[in-house]
Amino acid sequence: MGTTRRIVIGGAGLAVLGALGYRAWDRGVFEVGQGPAFKPWEEWRGRGDEGTRQPLHAAILAANPHDTQPWLFAAHGASIAVLADRARNLGSFDPFRREMHLGVGCAIENLMRAAAVYGYSMNVIVSGGRLEPSPANTPVRAAHLWLDAAPAIRDPLFEAIPNRHTNRGPYEERPVADADLRKLEALASDKEVRVVFLTDAKARADMASMIVEATGRIIADPQMSQDSARWFRTGKREVNEHRDGIGIDSSGVSRLVAAGAKLLPDLDAATADKTWLNMTRDVQTHAPVLGMILVRDRLEMGSAVAAGRAWQRLHLAATTMGLAAQPLNQPVEMVDRNQERGRDDHFASGLQSLARATAWEATFTFRLGYAKEPAQPSPRRPLDEVMVEQG
Ligand SMILES: Cc1cc2nc3c(=O)[nH]c(=O)nc-3n(C[C@H](O)[C@H](O)[C@H](O)COP(=O)(O)O)c2cc1C
Repeated sequence: MGTTRRIVIGGAGLAVLGALGYRAWDRGVFEVGQGPAFKPWEEWRGRGDEGTRQPLHAAILAANPHDTQPWLFAAHGASIAVLADRARNLGSFDPFRREMHLGVGCAIENLMRAAAVYGYSMNVIVSGGRLEPSPANTPVRAAHLWLDAAPAIRDPLFEAIPNRHTNRGPYEERPVADADLRKLEALASDKEVRVVFLTDAKARADMASMIVEATGRIIADPQMSQDSARWFRTGKREVNEHRDGIGIDSSGVSRLVAAGAKLLPDLDAATADKTWLNMTRDVQTHAPVLGMILVRDRLEMGSAVAAGRAWQRLHLAATTMGLAAQPLNQPVEMVDRNQERGRDDHFASGLQSLARATAWEATFTFRLGYAKEPAQPSPRRPLDEVMVEQG
């Protein structure tokens, strides 16, 4: 091979490597869980001179549907109003904004845990009312808290706040000790909310097939598929611009597959949906524990908030036990969608009979177990962006 040709080939090779390197940098292949969108995870304790605003740094790290972060806070002196930011909705995926209110409940749980640690006692009024289909995008008050000085407490669940992440990867088959499940159950249940764990192989298989079937129904519904996809973020630029949504790093695929997915062009909607269905069937419905959160009436706003608080508490406690967790709420999403469309539904009764609880209905389904790999944090908007004047 002549020298000129070798130089040309060498130059082309370098150009390809350079382009690949640029793409890797541009798409954030080497910056998993880093950058401005992840800063709130480092600043989660806030500062002592912030007064009643300090616990809000912990509130915004809560679980919430599709990482829409559908919350706003109005803090005035000793009072904090928590609002559901109805504009940040999942459309037909959450037609009654029920999941949105669960997410707000998750934030309220973190807020209350942090406030108690920073030396406040609290009076809380949670708003009641019926969740209706496709409501206006105007924010609605979900709860109002009044904080008063009190002796500060220590709380291991508070300390778990920055370590709690939704884990969508494979879990081990290792069972979870019954005593641990009983502790979690006691912590998350009260007169408004019940938690049911399924550990028996047959019950888990039945619930798994319900979750897979519901996922199939969702991806066959073009509106649901589209409304969900609006909250997917793939490259670094998108993540840092929006600081919300579901990204590749938290999708449950291995680090290597995640790097490849970032380098390649984005999947078209049909392929992305199929990938989700395959992940649900082959990975995410396999766990030693599947579970449900039940309430008396899933479309009562206060019950949705209470269920969210229960999930956040359960996930924080699971984190302290070294357990991973993932909501898998497709069956209840289908219950809502069927009701909105006036269609027959068999998911609600299927979940109810698995739970063996006739006077209760499922509002949230999940899995629990020991993860093979740790989960990555999801992005968050800065606190300033979710503070408003009026509550
Ligand atoms: C009401 C509700 C429903 C959710 N449904 C699902 C789900 O069906 N599948 C899933 O993988 N994660 C689900 N999640 C988890 C969120 O996507 C996750 O909390 C959010 O992306 C923030 O990530 P983090 O929990 O790791 O902080 C749900 C969370 C909430 C509160």
